[in-house]
Amino acid sequence: ILPFFPFLAAKAQNYDESKVPSYVLPDALKMVSGKKVRNQKTWETKRRPEILKLFEDNIYGQMPTAYDSVRRMIVSDDGAAMGGKAILKQVLIEIFRNQKSVKINLVLFVPSKAAAPSPVFLLINNRGKDNTDPTRIKKSEFWPAEMLIDSGFAIATFHVDDLAPDNKDTYMNGVLQLYPEQLKMDNGMKAIGAWAWGANRVMDYFEKDKDLDAKKVIIVGHSRGGKASLWAAAQDQRFAACVTNCSGNSGAALARRQFGERISRINTSFPHWFNNNYKKFNDKENLLPVDQHMLIALVAPRPIYATNASKDLWADPKGTFLALKNAESTYALYGLHPDLPASPPGINEPYIIPPIAYHIRDGEHNMTAYDWANFIRFARSF
Ligand code: GCU
Repeated sequence: ILPFFPFLAAKAQNYDESKVPSYVLPDALKMVSGKKVRNQKTWETKRRPEILKLFEDNIYGQMPTAYDSVRRMIVSDDGAAMGGKAILKQVLIEIFRNQKSVKINLVLFVPSKAAAPSPVFLLINNRGKDNTDPTRIKKSEFWPAEMLIDSGFAIATFHVDDLAPDNKDTYMNGVLQLYPEQLKMDNGMKAIGAWAWGANRVMDYFEKDKDLDAKKVIIVGHSRGGKASLWAAAQDQRFAACVTNCSGNSGAALARRQFGERISRINTSFPHWFNNNYKKFNDKENLLPVDQHMLIALVAPRPIYATNASKDLWADPKGTFLALKNAESTYALYGLHPDLPASPPGINEPYIIPPIAYHIRDGEHNMTAYDWANFIRFARSF
C-alpha cells in the first residue's frame, strides 16, 4: 500500500531489524590523526580528551566547572528516618557565579547503623518529585529507598528542574543563568548538560560528608536522566560506576542503527536537550565523528550497567547492547576483558559480570524494583 504522505513515511521510525542499514562505527581507539591507541597512557592523555571534546562539541555541549563559591546547608537531619534504620539528610547546595546562584535540593538517606562510610547510589530524578518523597509517605519503585538502605547503601537524589527545567522555553532558568555565555555558543551546554553538571556538584558534597564513601558513588539515571547519568560519568571520573536505564537515543544506544528514536526526532521533540551543532546530524547519523559506544568507553575502566525493557523498542535494546559490546576494546587497555555474548541475553536474564553489565527487563519503559535489585547485585560485584 502506498503511503498517502510519502514524506511522512520516510520519517517513520524503524522497528524492523531487517531494515537497519549497514554502518561502520568510528573506532574508539583510533585518533583523529589516524594513529592507533595501544595503551592506557595514550588513551588517557590523548584519545580520551579528544573523544570528550567531540561529544561536547557535537552533542552535549561544554561542561563549565568554574564557579565563585558554594554554600551547603543541612536543612534537616533526622536520625529516626525509616523507623530508625536511616538518617535522612536534606541538603541545600547553592552554587554562586557572577552574583547569580542555583540551588540543588539533595535528599539523602544513609544507613544509620553502618560501621563504615556507606557506598551511595545517586539518582538524577527526571520524573515527579513524588517518586523521591523524603517523608516516605509516598513510596515508588522508581527510587526504592528502603530497599537500598536494607542492602547497606546510602541513597540520594535531586530533581532535574533544580538545574534546568525540562522545557524548551524555560530550560535556561537554572544553571545557564550562571553561564549565560553558553547560550550563545553552538557547542554550549543545554538541559542534559546542566543535569549532569548538577550531579557533579552533588559529588563535590559527597566528598565532604564523612558518612559516605565518596569512592563508591554510583550515578543512576532513567531515560533522559540516563542520558545525563552517562554524560556525568564520562565527564566526572570521581563516579565509581554508572547505571544508564532505558536511556536509548543519545544515551547508551548506537545512533547509526537508526532504530526506534532517531537524532532528527529527538532534536525536534526536545530542542533544549543537546547543543545546536547536534541538529546538523538530523538524518545524517553517519557523519557524526562519534557514536554512543564511545561515550561508554569514556566510563572505562569503571563499571557500567545499561538496561532496557522488552516493550521499549523506542530505546533500541539491541543498539544499547551493541554499544556496550563495542566499548570492550577500551576496557581491554586496562587489562579488563569483558566478554559480553555476541547478542543480547534473554528477557529477565541479567548479565552481571563487571565491568560491563546489561539486562532487558520484561515490560514497559520504566525503572522498577526489579531493575534496582540488579543494580544492587552489580554494585556488590566490584
Ligand atoms: C521520550 C524521548 C526519549 C526519552 C524519554 C524519557 O520518549 O523520546 O529520548 O528517553 O522520553 O525520558 O522517558
